[in-house]
Amino acid sequence: MKPFARDTWIEIDLDAIASNVQALRRHIPSHTQIMAVVKADGYGHGSTTIAKEALSNGASRLAVAALDEALVLRRAGITAPILVLGYTPIEAITNAIHENIELTVYHVDWVEEAARLLQAEGGHLALHVKVDTGMGRIGVREEEEVLKLVERINSSAGIEWAGIFTHFACADEEDTTHVTEQHVRFQQLLTVLKEAGNMLPLVHCNNTAAAILFPEWGYDLIRLGIGLYGLYPSLYVKQQGRVTLTPALSLKSRIAHIKTLPQKASISYGATYYADSNEQIATVPIGYGDGFSRQLSNRGSAIWSGKRVPIVGRVCMDQIMLSIPEGTANVGDEVVLYGRQGQEEISLDEIATLLGTINYEISCMLNYRIPRVYVRNGQYVGICHGIANNFLQESRKKAGI
Ligand SMILES: Cc1ncc(COP(=O)(O)O)c(C=O)c1O
Repeated sequence: MKPFARDTWIEIDLDAIASNVQALRRHIPSHTQIMAVVKADGYGHGSTTIAKEALSNGASRLAVAALDEALVLRRAGITAPILVLGYTPIEAITNAIHENIELTVYHVDWVEEAARLLQAEGGHLALHVKVDTGMGRIGVREEEEVLKLVERINSSAGIEWAGIFTHFACADEEDTTHVTEQHVRFQQLLTVLKEAGNMLPLVHCNNTAAAILFPEWGYDLIRLGIGLYGLYPSLYVKQQGRVTLTPALSLKSRIAHIKTLPQKASISYGATYYADSNEQIATVPIGYGDGFSRQLSNRGSAIWSGKRVPIVGRVCMDQIMLSIPEGTANVGDEVVLYGRQGQEEISLDEIATLLGTINYEISCMLNYRIPRVYVRNGQYVGICHGIANNFLQESRKKAGI
């Protein structure tokens, strides 16, 4: 029995996740740890399963953007160190203390308040100092400020200075000027801290792009995001051929309705497409309500029976229509929206280019309505997500997964 009611699902190949971590492991210095970045629900892949897979294949730490995301991982029984990369409101830090979650800090006032809270309530809080070397997002910029911040952390009971890091804005580009300037600035700040008598904690700067192109800047750990999922941060990084990555995500559905119209007829909202007489039109249950962009109306395609077939008419909230030019399609036939079928492939990079964005956004857009099914050695080994969760409780047992 199928473990979900609606015929639309995401397949995540856990062997691909494992092989991507291992590929990066081989590429970076042996003393450099891997921090698997599983924010935004594991870039849309499901954070808890991805985190566990990464940890069993060479990652030793995790990172998320927000404390709530870290709590989800703890609730799933994950005990590995977790760093929150973004801002944490001071009133939320009690949760971080209780759940042993490391936080990012870049302002001395925040440390003052955290110190007061720890003094009142007790406990221990590990902090990573974020320095802004050219990303212009969050972080301390000036040397005096960095020194002041570190001094305040080191003099606060219950607060541990656990790390210092920066984030690159242009590591995936051919022109290395910006990333090199950022790295030089990072090194200067580290030198200033050392000269002031500080023992450096965990030092980190590399995201996927920098880890692939500048493995020698690994320091104590890399923050591996997009590469974990088998995607390259840019075409340029992909073309360098330094590390082989395998995409983990496929988006699949099944034909829900098939018709051959006796005469020319309009398809979908706005009647932007007219099917010819005898044109075979298949309806597939996926739409922008799932995070499948409406921008793909009359532009995107799917794979049916190993062949590309165009999306015709507008993408609706819950359904799309495909034109099937040759062969006989049937209700229940599998359709691949992203991923491979036979010799054909629709990559997330292709969709990103079509939509004028990056592959990161395409997988993140796929939302809670689509169940994530996990596959290892070609076998279904788990499932998460989806509005079908309640239904899943019983049907999972019946399906034996
Ligand atoms: C601070 C920080 N570090 C690391 C990453 C991971 O980057 P990537 O997915 O390019 O590896 C991100 C992702 O945006 C980030 O914001």
